[in-house]
Amino acid sequence: MNESTFPGTEHVMGHLPGHVPAPEPVQPISTPPSEPPRPAPAPARALPDNYAEMPKPTAKLTAEDLAPVNDANGPRHRIGPTGRPLPDLPTPQPPTKTGPAQVIAMCNQKGGVGKTTTTINLGAAIAETGRKVLLIDFDPQGSASIGLGVQPHDLELSVYNLLMQRDITPDEVIQPTRVENLDLLPANIDLSAAEVQLVQEVAREYTLQRVLDPIIPLYDVILIDCAPSLGLLTVNALTASNGIVVPLECEFFALRGLAMLTDTIAKVQDRLNPKLEIVGILGTMFDGRTTHAREVLDRVVQAFDERVFHTVIRRTVKFPETTVVGEPITTYAPSSQAATQYRDLAKEVLARCPAG
Ligand SMILES: Nc1ncnc2c1ncn2[C@@H]1O[C@H](COP(=O)(O)OP(=O)(O)O)[C@@H](O)[C@H]1O
Ligand SMILES: [Mg+2]
Repeated sequence: MNESTFPGTEHVMGHLPGHVPAPEPVQPISTPPSEPPRPAPAPARALPDNYAEMPKPTAKLTAEDLAPVNDANGPRHRIGPTGRPLPDLPTPQPPTKTGPAQVIAMCNQKGGVGKTTTTINLGAAIAETGRKVLLIDFDPQGSASIGLGVQPHDLELSVYNLLMQRDITPDEVIQPTRVENLDLLPANIDLSAAEVQLVQEVAREYTLQRVLDPIIPLYDVILIDCAPSLGLLTVNALTASNGIVVPLECEFFALRGLAMLTDTIAKVQDRLNPKLEIVGILGTMFDGRTTHAREVLDRVVQAFDERVFHTVIRRTVKFPETTVVGEPITTYAPSSQAATQYRDLAKEVLARCPAG
């Protein structure tokens, strides 16, 4: 975007040398102007204050528990990497109709935990089931766009224009991808200005929801790739969503920010969007050879039990490779373990929030 394209934004841009977003604490949430009375939200699951220091679970899994078994369904593991028996999830059947879409935000204010990788590959795995999927790149870094082969600086229009200009319609910005049933609403660095400009808007937390409303009937699943922050853009994503997936790198410090994240989620549930629910916590970059990764998963299961996905995404060099080629793992290496893991995750997500 050329800054002079949008008269009246110069003063804002002037404070953003090189469009670097201002350091931003958790955004206070305003009350929308004339909000109808809302039902009381379900109490958010409280996270014990000390749970990063909680003792390890006493019941240790034995090698026998973890060994594959052979039964009518062929060889399979009884106990998954999260230490719980693996459920038999149905293979998703093709949908009989399209929409209304389930809107799911990938959210964690920590960077590098697998939000973008999960948005792209979960989206592609759901698209393989015949469902219409839209990925929204909601990070000014434009990583989801890059990961699908779109160059952010070449974009004429991006999600920024859709948010800030009332005369732009979604079909002007949404692009098909090389993957069947998978569309992309791309982003670039322009979006960092929206974080500042939205503050002036009336009902500023509802801006994304407003622009998504007309396309909800056109998709079965909409996945939002959030930026690594809990600022106004992320609050917009949570307000527009009915579900959240929290990717969590399987290492000790991953647990630290979770209390702040669950607090923000609870505030959004309480004040802006009572429909919002945690669909699941997803362990990513899991290295099963280290007891450390297992311990981190054990603790996450202690705190969130059934909210933790049984599927865990293992660490593999295949994901950085897919970014270079600009396509999902499901098409780049369709029979890889990594592709299978995202297909398993798609089954779990569709079982938890049926779409299509
Ligand atoms: N399971 C994995 N194994 C190895 N590398 C991964 C895995 N998932 C993601 N990565 C890599 O880690 C980096 C950060 O992942 P990304 O999805 O961009 O995180 P975020 O969006 O949370 O910042 C990227 O280079 C990505 O390719
Ligand atoms: Mg990202």
